[in-house]
Amino acid sequence: MVAEHVVTPADLIWPLFICDGDGAEEPLASLPGVSRWSVDRIGAKAKEARALGIPCIALFPNTPPSLRTEDAREAFNADNLICRAVKAAKDAAPEVGVLTDVALDPYTAHGHDGLTDASGYVLNDDTVAVLRDQALVQAEAGADIVAPSDMMDGRVGAIREALEDAGHVNVQIMAYAAKYASAFYGPFRDAVGSRGLLKGDKKTYQMDSANAEEALREVALDLDEGADSVMVKPGLPYLDIVRRVKERFEVPVFAYQVSGEYAMIEAAAAAGAGERDALVLETLMAFKRAGCSGVLTYHAPVAARLLAG
Ligand code: PBG
Repeated sequence: MVAEHVVTPADLIWPLFICDGDGAEEPLASLPGVSRWSVDRIGAKAKEARALGIPCIALFPNTPPSLRTEDAREAFNADNLICRAVKAAKDAAPEVGVLTDVALDPYTAHGHDGLTDASGYVLNDDTVAVLRDQALVQAEAGADIVAPSDMMDGRVGAIREALEDAGHVNVQIMAYAAKYASAFYGPFRDAVGSRGLLKGDKKTYQMDSANAEEALREVALDLDEGADSVMVKPGLPYLDIVRRVKERFEVPVFAYQVSGEYAMIEAAAAAGAGERDALVLETLMAFKRAGCSGVLTYHAPVAARLLAG
C-alpha cells in the first residue's frame, strides 16, 4: 500500500543478438541463457515480447567476419542483418517497438565504434558521417528508435537532421548519452564478435568512471541536439548518474543493465550466493527508484514472466 515504486513488464527493453544463417540459435557461453538468433527466428522473439507485455526489443548483429572492414560499409548496407531483422520483427509484431544500435563496432575490422586513423585513433567527424548513413538505413527498415551508442560528439544532431530530411520525422533518438568505458561489456563483445578484434580500449571516446559532472554535460549536449530520451550505461554501478540526470533534466532516462551485470547475477545464482529471481527483481526496482523510465536488460523475458506471477 505504501510502495513508492513499481516494476512492470512495460519498463523493460529486451536486447537480442542476431546471427547469420537459417533456423539458427547460437547460445553464448559468457551470457548463460542468452543466444544469438538468425533473422528467421526474430519474428517469434518479437511475438514473445508482445505476449509478455515487453514494449520494445533492441537488436544487435554478429556481422560475418568477411563483412567487417576498415570503412565499416556493412553498417549502411540496407540489406544487412540488422535491417532484415528489423523488418522481420515489425512484420511479426508491429506493436512491439524496435530499437537499433548506431555504432560501428559490429562492422569494423578492429572492433572500435568508429573509423580510425593509421595509428588506430578513433576519428570523431569521419565516424559521424557513417553513423548518419547507418541510422538512415535502420529507419528505412522500420526501426522506431535509433540509439547511438558510439559516444562521438555531434552525432545526435547529425542523425536528427538526416532523419528529418528523409521524412522519418517520427523516429526517435535514444542517446547513449553517458556511456562509460567499462569492464562490464565483455560478454556483449563476445556476442557481437568484436572482443577478439579489439585493439586497445575505448577510453578516447567513452567516459571515465571517475566523472559525474561530465555525464551531465554529455546529456545536455545530446538533448540540445535533439535526443528524445537518454541512457546511462552500465546500470547498477552508475545509479548516481541516473538520479542526477533525472533531477537535472526531467526527461525520460533509461539505463542499460549490461552484459557483465547479467553475467554476475547468473554467476552468483549458479554459485549459490543468491537467488536469481529475487536478484533480478531487486535490481530492477533499484533502477526504478533511481529514476529510470525503463531498463535494457537481458533478463527482460525472465523478469516479465516473474512479474506476471
Ligand atoms: C557498442 C555497444 C556496447 C554495448 C552496447 N553497444 C559495447 C561497447 O561499447 O564496447 C554493451 C552492452 C552490454 O555489455 O550489454 N557500441
